[in-house]
Amino acid sequence: MQRRLYLASYGCQMNERDSEEVLGMLTAQGYEIAEAPEAADVILLNTCSVRQHAEERAYGKMAELSALKHERPGLILGLVGCMAKLHQAQVFKRLPEVDLVAGPAELYDLPYLLAEIQEKRQRIVAVDRPVRPLDRKPAGDYRRPGITAFVTIMEGCDKACTYCIVPKTRGQEVSRPAEEILAEISRLVQAGYQEVTLLGQNVNSYGKRFPDGSGYQGPVGRRRLLEEEPDTLLDFPALLRRIDASVRNGDRPLRAQSPFRLRFTTSHPFDANERLFEAMRDCDSVCEWLHLPVQSGSNRVLRAMRRGYTAEAYLENISLLRRLIPDISLSTDLIVGFPGETEEDFEATVRLVGEVRYDSAYIFKYSPRSGTDAAAREDGVPQDVKEDRNQRLLGLQAEIEQAKQRAWVGRRAEVLFERPGKGPSQWFGRTRGNHGVIVEHPAELAGRSMDVTITGTTAHTLLGALASPVPAACAD
Ligand code: SAH
Ligand code: SF4
Ligand code: F3S
Repeated sequence: MQRRLYLASYGCQMNERDSEEVLGMLTAQGYEIAEAPEAADVILLNTCSVRQHAEERAYGKMAELSALKHERPGLILGLVGCMAKLHQAQVFKRLPEVDLVAGPAELYDLPYLLAEIQEKRQRIVAVDRPVRPLDRKPAGDYRRPGITAFVTIMEGCDKACTYCIVPKTRGQEVSRPAEEILAEISRLVQAGYQEVTLLGQNVNSYGKRFPDGSGYQGPVGRRRLLEEEPDTLLDFPALLRRIDASVRNGDRPLRAQSPFRLRFTTSHPFDANERLFEAMRDCDSVCEWLHLPVQSGSNRVLRAMRRGYTAEAYLENISLLRRLIPDISLSTDLIVGFPGETEEDFEATVRLVGEVRYDSAYIFKYSPRSGTDAAAREDGVPQDVKEDRNQRLLGLQAEIEQAKQRAWVGRRAEVLFERPGKGPSQWFGRTRGNHGVIVEHPAELAGRSMDVTITGTTAHTLLGALASPVPAACAD
């Protein structure tokens, strides 16, 4: 039987990496990847619940795909990922055509779940596992072709930010063993990938719990190891150092012409500390870029969000980081209109953003998520106030970004080119600080790391010109 699979991701980077893993395990089972839903026998949507808008998009897309089933009743439709975990069998009420609902912890069961649906022709809801069994990953590997790749280093989240649904959709934290991560990165390097982004909801708590039950288990365990046996502590900074050493000493193929780059996301400000910043400073492969979501600049709101730090502590951390790595580039996430947020609270956020001067920021309007502590509060901020604060903060951030972009003009940066740009002869790449750069050049640049002189700016991107010609030996 021919089995063609179409899979689309509607979520964060971890969701995207999960989708690659699903493609890997299903192609190992004989599925072919279909580029369009019309050409598929199985359609999966990997979904997100972080804000209501994300859920509405996925429901809308699935409703559109459901129409295909009226023409081809044998088609299998699956809604998987975070929304599946939350909505469970209710998905069928809104979308009766759906055959499979499977949560993030059940993704490794997909080969068997799909086989069962094909055989018995009955719907399945698989959402009960508390955590994904990381040590039971089925065979198969798939990566979207390119220069950069994601490597998931941990699943789940042990924090309890009061607005956030992720701990409910993804469960408890579990870290992947370091050997597995190192082996995966080594395979990527061999395959020609030149940049890896390590992924986790809070990468800074890497190593707390491994699938076999080992790990430092919590802040007390970490502190004890740090004091008594620091060399045995496998936390995130130690992992960074191990990866850096492996790509430096290791087996990079000769055709890799650029210095290998390592990034990671997301860091929680409560757990990001000097030990991390020192590892970033010491490891050549780790880029000078940190995404450190602050969420709010008001201590009252931070407390109500249960973030575990104050604005002052956050700013102190940023000063320390800037002392250790002066040219660090910073990005953040901000939520406006959290329940009870007053004008004064909002102004504290404006002040913090003005003080840090982020290179980029994702600004979200608070979206109540049923089942979270914040959603039970009745002091919601009216929609028009939320919208107004959103616009004000976006305006401020745009001004800061433009000023920071203009300051780049005339400077040089190392740019790793990833893909063609939108216009003819254009190439898109990134600086180590994660700024997008567009360069016009007649020959292929993707995969090359080049010195670029920044010549101008657009709204979110820098424009540049190669500072030196492509070396003859490389000009293939
Ligand atoms: N673990 C990461 C990512 C969480 S989701 C972290 O802690 O940063 C990404 C971002 O979505 C969060 O940083 C937050 O800014 C935003 N977010 C999460 N829940 C939200 C909600 N209910 N409403 C609006 N934004 C939300
Ligand atoms: Fe959500 Fe907070 Fe965990 Fe991030 S750290 S995933 S915001 S609970
Ligand atoms: Fe969304 Fe789940 Fe990622 S809720 S942000 S897809 S962890």
